[in-house]
Amino acid sequence: MKDKRLENIDISAFQEDLISWYLENKRHLPWRENNDAYRVWVSEIMLQQTKVDTVIPYFNQFMEKYPTVYDLAEADQQDVLKQWEGLGYYSRARNLQTAVREVVASYDGEIPDDPKQLGSLKGIGPYTKGAILSIAYNQPVPAVDGNVMRVFSRVLLMEEDITQASTKKLFESYVGEMISKEDPSSFNQAIMDLGATICTPKQPLCMFCPVMEHCQAYAEGVQENLPVKKKAKKQRKEQYIALLIQNQEGKYIIEKRPDSGLLAGLWQFPMIPEDDIVKNDWQSWIEEHYDLDVDISESCTSIKHVFSHIIWHVDVRKATTNHKTAEDSRLRFVSLEELNQYPFPVSHQKMIPFLEEK
Ligand code: ADE
Repeated sequence: MKDKRLENIDISAFQEDLISWYLENKRHLPWRENNDAYRVWVSEIMLQQTKVDTVIPYFNQFMEKYPTVYDLAEADQQDVLKQWEGLGYYSRARNLQTAVREVVASYDGEIPDDPKQLGSLKGIGPYTKGAILSIAYNQPVPAVDGNVMRVFSRVLLMEEDITQASTKKLFESYVGEMISKEDPSSFNQAIMDLGATICTPKQPLCMFCPVMEHCQAYAEGVQENLPVKKKAKKQRKEQYIALLIQNQEGKYIIEKRPDSGLLAGLWQFPMIPEDDIVKNDWQSWIEEHYDLDVDISESCTSIKHVFSHIIWHVDVRKATTNHKTAEDSRLRFVSLEELNQYPFPVSHQKMIPFLEEK
């Protein structure tokens, strides 16, 4: 029996209207130059949580530096993170490289077109798997992310909370019913373009929508109330003092973050968690944690950085030290020139203009 929500939709007419609009109006994007699975994969990973306009230059540079899975598999992880610098969500880059290494080791460098094999690679969840299988291998598999849920919540007038995993599953099953079996690649990309350009979160441009006449929410005039999305929890605030510590040779101390967790493997200027200390005794904290003596000056700037679940407030201070080397293996003394070779999170890149030659 056909699902109630699909009863009101002429699925073939919907596919036809959607795909012919896409073929006429698709955005010309660098990863659409061909359907090479590696390019599709890299683009989809970059496009998670990042806008198309931001991704384009990163994608082009990444492809120039790592044109094949072999180039990426052989690369140094620090260089890959350097290429990713500024895109955020750095675990995407680490997982991508781990998975590409697996493709080289276990699949002779061919990205699998088998859903099970593809889905078992690190960082490839149901969305990325669907995107690669449909776009690169033309298999009718849904690729459902927040944008796709927005479009279908309107087309099918679905009021379930899209932050729930069960709702995503429900959407996957509907999209699985509605996806074109002849041209799944265009179907999924058309939904992505529709979500980006017409079926936008606020004030959707229904008058230009190729599937307006199939849209249940438009028929009821409720498109602006959809999707239903439970408010995310407020981000936790964290306060830090970051120290730009320069020694007599003009070198600065940088620190490698741990290999797991937030900003894993990236470099930063040493940071003191403010909540950890009593009486602003930063010097003692640095001595205790890094075995370094430092003199700390006035604040030179403050930086706020918003992550998905945390907000950093960082008070940046200059400092000096007499040390030339550090016992602590996390730390390195580097010149201003050498600094460019290290991947830094955006919050710490913003501190670099405050560094001075000696
Ligand atoms: N957003 C996510 N994947 C996309 C793609 N392949 N093209 C355009 N926008 C996207």
